[in-house]
Amino acid sequence: MIDQSALHAAGPEAAHLDHLWWIFFWTCAAVYVLVVAFFAAAWIRGRRNAAPDVRPETEKRLGTAIGVATVVSVIGLLALLTISVAVGHTVGTFGTGAANQLEINVTGHQWWWEVKYPDSRVPSKAITTANEVHIPIHTPVLLRLDTRDVIHSLWIPNLHGKRDLIPGRVNKFVIQADTPGVYRGQCAEFCGLQHAHMALIVVAEDEEKFERWKAHQSEGAPTPLTPEQARGQQVLLGAPCANCHNITGMDASATLGPDLTHFRSRSTLAAGLLQNTRGNLAGWIMNAPAIKPGVQMPPNQISAVELQDLLAYLDTLR
Ligand code: CUA
Repeated sequence: MIDQSALHAAGPEAAHLDHLWWIFFWTCAAVYVLVVAFFAAAWIRGRRNAAPDVRPETEKRLGTAIGVATVVSVIGLLALLTISVAVGHTVGTFGTGAANQLEINVTGHQWWWEVKYPDSRVPSKAITTANEVHIPIHTPVLLRLDTRDVIHSLWIPNLHGKRDLIPGRVNKFVIQADTPGVYRGQCAEFCGLQHAHMALIVVAEDEEKFERWKAHQSEGAPTPLTPEQARGQQVLLGAPCANCHNITGMDASATLGPDLTHFRSRSTLAAGLLQNTRGNLAGWIMNAPAIKPGVQMPPNQISAVELQDLLAYLDTLR
């Protein structure tokens, strides 16, 4: 099951934010109940007494009550401010400089997420994927955020608060998942027509599963085995696909759209909009703008037979 909730913390930073949220919730709830109670008492008293009570001792008592309430309010607000700043500092400095840190570069595009795992020791083992981030549990993961076009904001509520992706700079933050699971993230800054359809998935898994995933992702695409798959590969090279997409291991190396080398192993298409099924993929290839208006991928003019061959080839990209 995919989880997307700031109140189901899967890591230490989200746990801090979750805790802060409940402190604010219960404090504000108590204040609200008190205000309504005082309002109701005043209203009932006003209905009972036709003439206002203007005796000097009453005035003095009311003055003192207002003074005390003001002091209590100021102390309460300062306490909330202090807790909030302290949590912000704890979360903001979490994991900086940790030794076993993993690094991932996330680039925002209208409207999808490019995800890269650089490998400083073996550059050829670097991975490029999209809209799906795999991380090992109990490991601090440094995310470097930048954008290819407008401002976006990455928000994976089970793991962390929001962080903006701003043109011309790299924002960094560290996430850590301690509970294995699949967490949904969402762009949290209005970035155009399909802002609401700019989601990504974070798969937090144990070290062994993660390493297996990483090793597989760093391999090139397999060679077509059947005649149908071979024809499909030719359809892909003849259609405009290769102008925008990269498939490592064949003659397609553009970076305008998501990397397709292993895209059938991902659980969604179109940045979380569709389940990654053969039927959805067929519809997406034939007329993506009808499904996600404004998307840069144009409709494709290919025959039904060509589409079946193409789907057979794309099925191998797992
Ligand atoms: Cu990207 Cu909103």
